[in-house]
Amino acid sequence: MTPFTFLRCTLVATLVWIATSCGSVQAQEQRRGVYVSPTSDTIHPAVAKHGMVVAQERIAAKVGADVLARGGNAVDAAVATGFAMAVTYPRAGNIGGGGFMVIHSADRHEDITIDYRETAPAATTRDMFLGADGKPDIAKSRDSALGIGIPGTVAGLALALEKYGSGKFTLSDLLQPAIALARDGFVLTDDGADTLPDWHRRLARWPATKKIFSRDDGTSLRDGDKLVQTDLATTLTAIAAQGPRGFYQGPVAERLVDGINSAGGIFTLDDLKTYQPVIRAPVRGSYRGYDIVSMPLPSSGGIVLMETLNILEGFPMPELRQGTAPSLHVMIEAMKRAYADRARYLGDPAFVNAPIAILIAKDYGAKQRASIDLDRATPWTDALSAVPPREGSNTTHYSVVDAAGNAVSNTYTLNFSYGVGLVAEGTGVLLNNELDDFTAAPGASNAYGLVGFEANLPGPGKRPLSSMSPTIVLKDGRPVLVTGSPGGSRIISTVLQVIVDVLDYRMDVASAVAAPRLHHQWLPDEVRIERGFSDATLAALRAMGHRIVEPMGQTSANSIAVTPDGLLGAPDPRTRGAEASGY
Ligand code: GLY
Repeated sequence: MTPFTFLRCTLVATLVWIATSCGSVQAQEQRRGVYVSPTSDTIHPAVAKHGMVVAQERIAAKVGADVLARGGNAVDAAVATGFAMAVTYPRAGNIGGGGFMVIHSADRHEDITIDYRETAPAATTRDMFLGADGKPDIAKSRDSALGIGIPGTVAGLALALEKYGSGKFTLSDLLQPAIALARDGFVLTDDGADTLPDWHRRLARWPATKKIFSRDDGTSLRDGDKLVQTDLATTLTAIAAQGPRGFYQGPVAERLVDGINSAGGIFTLDDLKTYQPVIRAPVRGSYRGYDIVSMPLPSSGGIVLMETLNILEGFPMPELRQGTAPSLHVMIEAMKRAYADRARYLGDPAFVNAPIAILIAKDYGAKQRASIDLDRATPWTDALSAVPPREGSNTTHYSVVDAAGNAVSNTYTLNFSYGVGLVAEGTGVLLNNELDDFTAAPGASNAYGLVGFEANLPGPGKRPLSSMSPTIVLKDGRPVLVTGSPGGSRIISTVLQVIVDVLDYRMDVASAVAAPRLHHQWLPDEVRIERGFSDATLAALRAMGHRIVEPMGQTSANSIAVTPDGLLGAPDPRTRGAEASGY
């Protein structure tokens, strides 16, 4: 059966979608990073009967849905979508970055995760991101080739397919749509067209990158222009022919090392050759009778998510009501405590012995809950001074469910939008600046203002602590919600709010994804908010002592709910082009 897209299930919603796609005020507001809250009667989930992919970019979502319709399972579809987005969504889709995949395998009654996070090259040193004055030099980790981690995406997607694919598709089969899109080009539109001109100057610092993303006159490609990526097609073809070896060894690897080191990097061929993705047991917990399955270290996502949920579980959230000051207050206080633990304890598990079992235990949640004053914000700034976060938007999340009940929740990233901006000459591979997620010095913060300590200092072969939180919620062993988001530090609080909105407030998934969100990460001691909260609610929060700051920065929780009515897809309306594609 030919896959087709269920964009919206009512006429009203279809009209909203058309308006958004045609450059309405809402879309323009989104482009400026300002979110206009939709009302519940304009937001409806997309519906599919058998299988669905919800992703940030529509062509790639359709690529995955097509694989599902041809008998592929959720992992096959996730791999095809991941490679396609490396072409069609260069802002965050990638083969030059890394990420995390959470898989629920219905056939095997198993939940597992694949960690394909970037790794620091062997020549990395603890003080690599410090300036001559011994203080963190953010230009080194964010704007230079020193910030590039060994990419994990190719190895991670290949491992997922080998271990959990249906066996009906080879890696080469699943790469063909991506190869064709890179070779033949596609018309730049939606979020890609909205963001590329803003980032073009950064990308144009490197001639190999400039060539790909510029018009003949050297200015940025724009809405309606064709993006052709010939070198990327060649690199993807090498992977199709040889598997991950086509990327991590041989001519592509040599070009990557040359390109990165010519720009000041410290890569060796051995760094690439020895890169390994890791299959890890997920962080597991429960919330009001549902099982939560999320990403373990080196992502802090699952641990922080479980700690906040455990704190909230003791509050009567439905009685406090969604969006009210009392419910938001306890949510903020729970976030504050869990993010503080993140800063203190978490890092790459190969290097750090974090007290995970304690942090995600119900009795620890109860202890944390007992410290919350229901009328007053708890101040946390006494402990450390904090640097305000530089708002960025990056990373991308997609969710997949197939007809057999397998589910994939995948978040992958280049860190900043378009990563560090460097394409290694001749590869077409846009490279990450993921090593900025390390803590340059104890007490320093990364681009999201996340403070860290010893546990997350740079080191050779170490993976920087992440916030990416691909998550699957199960009831009686079956997926009911697949969710995740981009947004740096804001990822975890976004996933938390989607889960609480669905499970506690019984919101349908589209309304839960669209609802305004807020964020607190311990330090800086402030509540970041989106537009859409009432003035009265914000005044009540301020009266409790919360410092409210706008904007929150961009998140995009592309989610799927599995319901008796079918698969309900919620492409996040905050960014143009997110799509639910199913059959
Ligand atoms: N680079 C964002 C994260 O991994 O959390």
